[in-house]
Parts: sequence; structure tokens; C-alpha cells
Amino acid sequence: MKWFLLLGAVLAVSAVDRAKFRRCIDTAFCRRHREDKSLTDYKIVSNSLKFNDTALHAILKNKENSLVLDIVALKDSTIRLVIDEFEGKEARVRTRWQPLDALAKAEPEQQKIKKSEVGKEESWFETEDGHKVVVQHKPFRVDLYAKGTLVTTINSRNWLRFEHFRKGKKTKDGDGFWEEKWGDHKDMKPHGSSSVSVDIALLGFKMAYGLPEHSETYALRSTNNYEPYRLYNLDVFEYEINNPMALYGSVPYLAATNPRRTLGVLWLNPSETWVDYDISRADLGVVGKLVETEDERADRIPQINTRFISETGLIDVFFFLGPKPHDLFRQYSKLTGVTPVPPQFSLGYHQCRWNYKDEKDVREVIAKFDENEIPMDVIWLDIEHTDEKRYFTWDKEKFPEPKQMVEDVAKKGRKMVLIVDPHIKKDKNYTIYKEARKKGFLVKELGGKKTFVGNCWPQDSVYIDFTNPEARKWWSEKFALDKYEGTTEDVHIWNDMNEPSVFNGPEITMPKDLVHYDDREHREVHNMYGFYQHEATHNGLIQRSERKLRPFVLTRAFFAGSQRTAAVWTGDNAATWEHLKASIPMLLTLSTAGIPFVGADVGGFFKDTDPELLVRWAQAGAFQPFFRAHAHTDTKRREPYLLDENFRAAYKKAIETRYKFLPYIYTIFYEHSKNGKPVMRPHWLELVEDEVGYDEDRQWLVGNAILVKPTLEAGETRTSVYLPGKREIWYEFDTGKARPSPGAMQIETPIDKIAVFQRGGTIIPIREMDGPRASLAETKADPVSLYIGLNNRGDSANGTIYLDDGETFAYEKGEFAFWGFTFKKEHDYLFTITSKNLDKKGKLESEILIDKIYLRGVKFYPQTAHIYLDDFVPEDLPFEHDRDSQQIVISNVGAYLTKEWKIDLHG
Ligand code: GLC
Repeated sequence: MKWFLLLGAVLAVSAVDRAKFRRCIDTAFCRRHREDKSLTDYKIVSNSLKFNDTALHAILKNKENSLVLDIVALKDSTIRLVIDEFEGKEARVRTRWQPLDALAKAEPEQQKIKKSEVGKEESWFETEDGHKVVVQHKPFRVDLYAKGTLVTTINSRNWLRFEHFRKGKKTKDGDGFWEEKWGDHKDMKPHGSSSVSVDIALLGFKMAYGLPEHSETYALRSTNNYEPYRLYNLDVFEYEINNPMALYGSVPYLAATNPRRTLGVLWLNPSETWVDYDISRADLGVVGKLVETEDERADRIPQINTRFISETGLIDVFFFLGPKPHDLFRQYSKLTGVTPVPPQFSLGYHQCRWNYKDEKDVREVIAKFDENEIPMDVIWLDIEHTDEKRYFTWDKEKFPEPKQMVEDVAKKGRKMVLIVDPHIKKDKNYTIYKEARKKGFLVKELGGKKTFVGNCWPQDSVYIDFTNPEARKWWSEKFALDKYEGTTEDVHIWNDMNEPSVFNGPEITMPKDLVHYDDREHREVHNMYGFYQHEATHNGLIQRSERKLRPFVLTRAFFAGSQRTAAVWTGDNAATWEHLKASIPMLLTLSTAGIPFVGADVGGFFKDTDPELLVRWAQAGAFQPFFRAHAHTDTKRREPYLLDENFRAAYKKAIETRYKFLPYIYTIFYEHSKNGKPVMRPHWLELVEDEVGYDEDRQWLVGNAILVKPTLEAGETRTSVYLPGKREIWYEFDTGKARPSPGAMQIETPIDKIAVFQRGGTIIPIREMDGPRASLAETKADPVSLYIGLNNRGDSANGTIYLDDGETFAYEKGEFAFWGFTFKKEHDYLFTITSKNLDKKGKLESEILIDKIYLRGVKFYPQTAHIYLDDFVPEDLPFEHDRDSQQIVISNVGAYLTKEWKIDLHG
């Protein structure tokens, strides 16, 4: 029997304790909405429907309730629908809290209505950019037509539900309406339950993605007969994979695609939310007739049914109408913002562990990296560096001279990241506690008088109320260099446990009836608590350098819009192959939901890893936006220099590969800041014509040019890759060998190799390093080579490079360069490669030279090559041509990246 007990123990330590977390059925509002399928029969009150320049306004009514409806036309193919309580004659018990801080601009730009009509049975309007909104009066329903095609319908199931805040209990309000128990916790609802829900169907789509954070497949799955996707920021110890349970962050956004169009839906609500999702057919819904065409019967048209259920707040939904994938990313990012170009060091390799013990340890780790010539940009300190978990302080025994340590680390251009969590040790002698308490910046208990005390790392803790703008300002000031002892401008910040995590709270978080600024209940703001913390931290880091240096902040909790001020990681994963696999759909989902700067703990947080898994993980991490190794305090040390020779060499090569690709990755981050497209991309974003790749979650694209497939199985040295697209050419990056798509293939991936392909038709810049580099700072003068993968006709390719100083905001004042490269067939005997300044506002003149040019997929036979530099006098260029592999290598190009030049290849 012994082995049996042992197995039980092993399972117990490696699985989430589900009993701690609520399911829909354990949650009164979710249960009520999900189980009640009765029709609510809202209708538009006659004569209430009106238009102004940009919006439709009407009153909705059913047997119980009156509501206000606004449908607003926003710029760039975006429609907003808002439903709130109707004020009527009686004043409202309470207004609903709006998470407008999640938006890049609290008032998104509107567009004019071009035509509108109030009818008897339905009313409609058409926007200037050609979209149409039709409102059916009875029962109330809204249909959105994107340029003539019905793409989404709201309340077609007639399930709209909206519970009003109210005074005094009514018996028929039902169970859990005024109070609710979970374990030992009783949640009081002094204003009654105020939950909302509506059904939204997406027409013509059979696949959608988004709704992070879950450890789930990339394409959303049907929740029929299962749990809905839950959005409620939680600290889930040892989370399970393939599970719709809530995790650390939430973005209530999903995107759907088919080969012709895309559609995005943002449900702007930060209270606890559950989303049901299933895939059906248009003929089974009420709008089947409206989408049917002569060529396509309704039973052939797929339809996704969703239902969003939130505990409180408004129904405030944004629809982004695409139609192309890049339109969708632009539209969503206009609304919620982009990640500004990060400081360059933050795109390098980060070395973290809980914990680097003391100053000596930190110095030793750095020395070992140097000794082994492994590049590394950032070393991190976890909670143990503080004086008994008092953030903003140091354990003086272990870190007697922190400033000196930071300065020493910075000698080779490296940075440090320190952890600062939102819980504050309850200690009368701790300045942060004293001040926050005195200023009234702490979250209060029900009733709003007593300060809430919860349990977290420092034991008894209080929590900063980041929803209070004054508290945020105060917090930001704490990062000033003269206030935060031991720090310099080379210190950046990690905000963890900000769901917030409360060890003795219901579901390890805050009781929902706690009171925040402006008398808001915690339930109203929950999913934005972490957002406000990392935003205040980000602002603090900007202020401390008087807006000179770009900050880096990592957060665990997030909401829509978090991308503007933080990078996100996927929390406490484990050192298993399954977790390595799971990181890919998790990061793709975050990327799809507008958060591009994302990563997972390389190596896996919990458990000891084995060297093969660690190396494979580092290879994957090298092509993911945020690249940090991290490990739990109970694990054995696993810094790359500790590995046996072949694993060490392979790990080192993975980091070096990252540093070589950095000019390309940095350029994609810049482009993201302009167009909203993520760094890590799902296949459909670039190759929407190829439906086979839609749900792919074992491989991904980096930008538009690179395809990456890590090795995800133990012992595997041959990896299968799917080459997406219709009639694309992909070049194996290391060898330049061409492969046509679509198709699956196998590639040899010994331990030091990851499968990487370049897409035909692209040009990418790669850094050449002729020796070891300690950090990215040391690569600044290194030349760059251009890799040109010709398209399938062998006659064109394009690419870009973005350059700036990598650390300051000077780029905002023109200290940058954004250049393009083009390969073109001029005629049968002449092919050219040219450079061009793509943004004349950029004034930066770089000293960086182009070293080599690699051409792949060359179908002509070049006789001579010439380069024209400034003086328009052609100079001979030596090159090598390999006819069999169709490759040319031009060496010693000697042109500057930010000057115009032209190369002629004569056939
Ligand atoms: C949490 C974090 C983890 C960190 C630990 C100690 O578990 O997710 O990354 O190391 O806390 O601060």
C-alpha cells in the first residue's frame, strides 16, 4: 500500500487545490444567470429612441426593469454599446463604477452617423465608414453589419439580464442576493446583487481566441456542459493546465477570424466575469435568415455563441470590425493602448531566482556568467532581499551596501530588478505603513472604517488602495532615488501578488465587500487592482529620472490596457514538459488580447528541472518577448553555467541567438507601438488565408518574418513543423534551405538547435557578434547583417530596422531611425537591394555598419555586384553564389544602416 500513499502525496503537491476556488455553480450570480434560460423580453420604449450626431439613445423596458441604451459610433470601424440602469424619477441607489482608466483615452474618438432612421419595428444607423447597426425594438436585439455583412448580434437569445442596485431586501430576490458564503467567509452585499449578462453571437466564425488568463488551448473551447471561462484575478498555487479556472490576470476581450474577416469584442468590466462559449450554426439562431445568401445556406454558416456574465458594473461592449487581422489589432490597440518601445536591456536575458541570497551571491552569479561568457542583462532580487518583507527596504545583513552592489552590476551595462508587492507589513515602525495609514490610503473593511488586515508574505499586512488617485501619486513618489534607499537608475521593478493575493482571504484574495476609495466595493474594481499598482509603479520610475529614462515594470496581475505600463509573465508554472507546452498558447492569448511584452518562467518555477527541459525552455524563451529564467526557493540552483558542458553550450547558444535576433525583435516592438500588432503572433495574423494554422499552439511567428517551433518532448531530436500559408516559401534559418508551404515537415533538432524559419519575401536584421558580449550594452556598435528571403517568384522582399539609444525617451524627439530595405527584380538581368528612410522625423545617424547580406531563394545567376554609396560611384562587391542551394552571400558590405545605398546584382 505504501507506493499508493506515496503516489497520493506526489499528486497532492503537484495539483491545484480546487476546493479553494469557486466554480460557477458555487457562485450565486453565475449560477443564477447560467441556469435561468427564461426569456427576458426587453423592448424599446416607444418614442424613446433618438439619434444625435454620433450615437443612438433609447430606453429599454421589461416587466421588472428599465434600462438606458446607448450605441456609439467610434472612429476606425468600432462600435460601442452601453447599457446602464435607468434613473427614472427616483434617484439611483448607486452609480455603477466605470473602468475608464483601462482605456488609452477615457473618451474614445467618435465618428459621425451618416444616415439613420427611426422605424416602427426597428431603427438603424449607418456610420461614415460604412457599417450599419440595426436595433430591433421587440424583443430588443442589436445586429451589426460590417460593410453589409451581419457579423454579430446582441441579445438574439433574449437573455439580457440586469439586476438593479436596491434598498432593502425582498424575499424573492433569491439565494445569494444579499449575502453569500464561501468557506469561512461571508460576503455581504449591502446594495443587493447587481449582476449583468447578455448573449453575443458571432456570425460566420468558427474560431475565436482571447479571454486571458487561463492555461488553455489557444483557440477557445466550447464550455457546454463544462465550466465557463472565468475572469477573476487570483493567485492560484500550482495551477493546472487545460483548465478554464481563473488565473492571475484578466482581459475580457476575444477576437474571431475567418479567411475574409475578423471581429473583436471587448467586454469592459473589471468585476468577476464568466464567459460561456459554444460553436453552433446560423440556422439554429434567430438571425439565420439574415445571413443566408444564394450561395450559402444558413446551416452552412458557423456561429459562435457567447454569453458574458459579470457580478456588477455596466454592460459596456466594444465591437471592432476589422476586416483584416492587422486592422483588428490597430483598432483594439487604439482603444486600450500599446506598449511603448521598452528599454533595450529588458529584451535581453533575465536571470532570476527566489532568491539570490546576498551581495556575495549576486556578485558570484555575475562573475560566473562572465567567466562562462554567457550574456545576461538583468539580475533579479525576490522578496528575501528586504528587511522582513518590508518593501522599499533592504535586509542590512545580507545587503549592507546595496547601492555599491547595483553600481558594480551596472559596470557591464547590466541592470537589477527588485520586487515590490502591494501588501504592506503591519508594523508601526515601518514608514510606508505609517504614512499610508495616516493618509487613509489603505483598503478598508466593510463599513469603510476599519483598515483591512490580511495575511501575506510579511504575515499581518494591509493593502494600498491603488484605486485612489492620491494613493497612486504617493506610491509613485516612493521610487524617487533619494527615497528608495540603495537604488539607482539601473534598478527596475517587479510587482507581484497584485491580484491581490491574500493568503487567508476567500479564494486567496480580498473579500469582495471591502471598501475602496469613493465608497467602491472591492467586487467593483477587483480585476483592476493590479493594473493600478503597476501603473503607479511605472509612473514612479518615469518621474524619478524626470522622464529621461524608459522604465521596466513586470506585473503578475493585469487587465485590458496593462500593456501601456507593464510586461506580464504567466506566474507560477512548473518544471514539466506540459508546462513548457502550455506557455505557448498562454503567451499567444495574451498577445492576441493586446499585451505583447509577455513571457513564462524559463525552466519552470516549481520543481527541479532537468537539463534537457531547461535548455529546450531557454530555446523557446529566446524567441518569446520577455525572456527570464526563474525558480522557486525550494529548487536546486540551475543557472546555465552549472550545467554539464553540452547543455551549458546549448543554453548559452540560445541566449546568444536572442542577442543576434535583437535588432529584429526591437524593431517589432517599435512597430507594435505604431500598429498594435504583437511581437509573438498567431499564424492567422499573418497568414489568414490558411485556416489549417488557425488553432496552432505549438509554434508561433515572431513579427511577420520568423516562424519558431521549439522542441517540446523529452529525448526528441527531430521536430515536426507546420509551414503555414498558401504557396509561401520558408527558409530554414540556419541553412537557408527553401521549403514550400503549406505542409508539415521534420527537422533535425539536436540539443543545441531550435527550428527557426524565415518567410519568403522578408528581410531581417541580425546582429553579428565577433566575440563574447556581457550584455546588450556591449553590442551597441556591433554590425548587422541582412537576411533576405526571396518570395516564391524570387523577385521581391522587404524588411525594416528601428534604432534609437535604447534607454531614453529621446526617440520621442526625433532621436531614432526607421529604415526599410527592399530587394527587387528590375528586369531579367538586374536585381537591386536598396535602403530607404521610412520616417523622416527620425534624425538619428547610426554608426552601425552592414556587414553581410545573405540572399536565399536566388533563381538568377549573378555575374557582378556593385554598391552605390553616397557618392553615386559604383564599387565592386565580392560575393559568393551557391547555385545548388540558391544562395548568395555578400561580405563586407560596409554601408551604414541609416544612409541611403543601393546594390545592383547583374545577371
Ligand atoms: C510568487 C511569484 C514568484 C515569486 C514568489 C516569491 O509566487 O509568482 O515568482 O518568486 O512569489 O516572491
